[in-house]
Amino acid sequence: MIPISGLFKDKSYLDRLSQLSRASLMDRLDKKMAATTYDSDEVKKEQREIGTSQIQEGTEPKEDNFKTLIFDGSSAFTIRFDKYQVAPGVDGVIAISLPVSSIQDLVKPEMADIVGVTVLPAASPTPRPPTQTPQPPAATPQPSANLPAGEVNCAVEKCVALTFDDGPAAYTDHLLDILKENQVKATFFVVGRSAKIQPTTILRMAQEGHQIGNHTWDHPDLRTLSGEQVAQEFAQTDQLIAQITGQPPTNIIRPPYGAINDQVKKIAGRPIILWALDPLDWKDRDSAIVTARMSAAQAGMIILGHDIHRTTVDAIPAVIQALRAKGFKFVTVNALFAPNALQANKTYTAR
Ligand code: NI
Repeated sequence: MIPISGLFKDKSYLDRLSQLSRASLMDRLDKKMAATTYDSDEVKKEQREIGTSQIQEGTEPKEDNFKTLIFDGSSAFTIRFDKYQVAPGVDGVIAISLPVSSIQDLVKPEMADIVGVTVLPAASPTPRPPTQTPQPPAATPQPSANLPAGEVNCAVEKCVALTFDDGPAAYTDHLLDILKENQVKATFFVVGRSAKIQPTTILRMAQEGHQIGNHTWDHPDLRTLSGEQVAQEFAQTDQLIAQITGQPPTNIIRPPYGAINDQVKKIAGRPIILWALDPLDWKDRDSAIVTARMSAAQAGMIILGHDIHRTTVDAIPAVIQALRAKGFKFVTVNALFAPNALQANKTYTAR
């Protein structure tokens, strides 16, 4: 038996497991509550508070809380929680399933076979000491003739793709100003429900050359939905974006929490875009921290960020400056992989 900590490069896996399981368990709680009748709103509110604090406590980033991880060679792994750990005793042992890709950047290269992941070169979100010089990307030059004129060729240039999830929101237009000023193209994985409230922000994204991806209608854990519901989550958002932008539906999706299963993949029917660098900007609402983590990106990486957080948006000018100084080009997800077309049902984290 290998201790769980032995699978990972450092202790940051605990934060990741904590983050991912909280999202999944909160979703479970909400679903369970939606199917329950309560005597009053007060009782319901109280129950939700109890449930939430139990989840918070049971998923604190401590080794004790994550004793059982099950890898079966598929694209998902299971976290098993003890009875009483994250839910009332009557619920028994709780198991949640998460995509292996959501932890792949934290796995020790020598443990990759056990976990069944492809380990990316140094995909740690924390800045590395300068002694560990990153390997240059295996640049297999592609004929740039296949690329539209004026487009960066990421087969030979150092590229990164900035991606922003969960918007549009209050700071998205400010972010668009920053990107415009710096002539940076990014990719936005938008939530349909929010796009409906801010259609002009969506239109602006399209007009200013950013790529728009589908992040579902209201951000559920898609693995908990029926096939019909999953299809609806994508279709509703597709329709709205197409309606606002006047362009055909977006070719890429990002499932909330990076959570996928075979059903989701099949129904999505298009490339699934995850990330290689997660700056944990939802957790550390500190622009300096977010800047440092994003600035540690390496060539070919898809970088995750959330335009719903002011601190993330505020970090972007410094991130652009830092990465530009190292010779990076900022491209959309499609451009990162060009001239190769992204394939349906495949997951992507880096070029
Ligand atoms: Ni999201």
